[in-house]
Amino acid sequence: MKKELSRRDFLKSAGLIGLGAGTLLSTVPWMEALADENTKKTIGEKVRIGIIGPGSRGRFLMNLIKKNPKAEMVAICDIYQPSIDKALKIAPKAKVYNDYRKLLEDKEVDAVVIATPLYRHYQMAMDSLDAGKDLFCEKSLSYTIAQCYDVYQKYKSTGRIFFVGQQRLFDPRYLKAMEMIHSGMFGEIQAVRAFWFRNGSWRNNVPDPSLERQLNWRLYKEYSRGLMTELGGHLLQVGTWAMQKLPETVMGAGGLTYWKDGREVDDNVSCIFSMDDGRRITYESVISNKFYGLEEQIMGNLGTVEPEKGMYYFEDGTVNGVTPKPAAGFMQMMKDVQNQVFEKLPFAGTSWEPEVAKDVKGNYIMGEDYKINTDGSQELINAFVEAVITQKQPERIAEECYYASAMVLLGYDAIEQGKKLTFPHEYRLNYLNHKHQAK
Ligand SMILES: NC(=O)c1ccc[n+]([C@@H]2O[C@H](COP(=O)([O-])OP(=O)(O)OC[C@H]3O[C@@H](n4cnc5c(N)ncnc54)[C@H](O)[C@@H]3O)[C@@H](O)[C@H]2O)c1
Repeated sequence: MKKELSRRDFLKSAGLIGLGAGTLLSTVPWMEALADENTKKTIGEKVRIGIIGPGSRGRFLMNLIKKNPKAEMVAICDIYQPSIDKALKIAPKAKVYNDYRKLLEDKEVDAVVIATPLYRHYQMAMDSLDAGKDLFCEKSLSYTIAQCYDVYQKYKSTGRIFFVGQQRLFDPRYLKAMEMIHSGMFGEIQAVRAFWFRNGSWRNNVPDPSLERQLNWRLYKEYSRGLMTELGGHLLQVGTWAMQKLPETVMGAGGLTYWKDGREVDDNVSCIFSMDDGRRITYESVISNKFYGLEEQIMGNLGTVEPEKGMYYFEDGTVNGVTPKPAAGFMQMMKDVQNQVFEKLPFAGTSWEPEVAKDVKGNYIMGEDYKINTDGSQELINAFVEAVITQKQPERIAEECYYASAMVLLGYDAIEQGKKLTFPHEYRLNYLNHKHQAK
């Protein structure tokens, strides 16, 4: 029978049980917020949260907040009555606002969750921090890199708690995978190939044509950066987390080839992010074919990790600690004979023998019995709540989130401009290999 992941299992998988904060992996310091020794101290506390934009994602988050006994939802704000009606079913006692600035004036609100369309994030995030609220903003952080940088600086200058909806930071599969990667199990990570393929229009049903742009904001450039900001940031954050390196440049291309229904954003995009040492992360998304699904293929010289699938593979075929023996002498001889035969042919040759993954069996990141019951969103919300109570911003979370958004926005610009772009020095943080330089 498949096993449910208990809170204890979750913490154990992340190396948080029985360990002091000092022993936490340096690359996941934000997990400290959920360490037993810290969460025990905040029992009985209550954070009062206001939700701005309780649409599809906003209500998903509301259901997670509801499960946290240290949080209550005291206010919601939306401009669309059906969203308000649905949100009130989750938080019936919440005060209702139609103007987010009024919600921000509410002294009973300690922290806000922003889950509005992308183009609204910037002003709402800036105003929230200025109003002294702790901030959880859905991804992507803003509509331009300059805006993302402003919000990050506002977070720094106000000293508020600041999270973005990058739930993979708390997904047990990813945490465990990163622990393995950073221990050197797969050698040095040479490349990350990330993709997200779907087959769907990405459209919401619209009860009246006058609501088309409001409800299908994702499809219009004025409000959205399409597949880059809606899907790409999750995957790119994983890529740089694995490599512990931020890109210098990006080039990209995109097109609208299938969903020609009046939308403006591309339905296929590809980007190549390059590091200063020549390693690369690629990101690709197509929404007219879902065969290959979603994955970040993290490739080291000794092995490959596919965290979404929950698998890893060694180049030498090792499974559960057992490395396959080399082919028996007779088989080897047959192979050599075959190779000689092929060498005589006018095409290909031994060096063209395909080295394929099909013979390599996989290992389970979380063990064979692991059943996925969280994608990290619950733990991300829980960590936010803990941080608001303790007023302690977990290390590196703001920077990881900033870069996830900044990278996709730079990729978007590269696609739109048809140019290879360098990550602007004035929008770099002093983080990992990046150094900020004023313009
Ligand atoms: N982290 C994730 O995995 C994840 C998943 C889905 C969506 N998201 C992000 O969440 C955000 C919202 O996406 P969604 O799918 O929920 O969109 P949505 O359209 O379903 O919801 C947006 C809500 O915001 C409301 N809104 C619009 N303008 C407003 C305003 N001025 N004031 C108050 N409310 C306003 C809308 O009426 C709607 O209820 C996006 O940034 C998206 O990228 C993140």
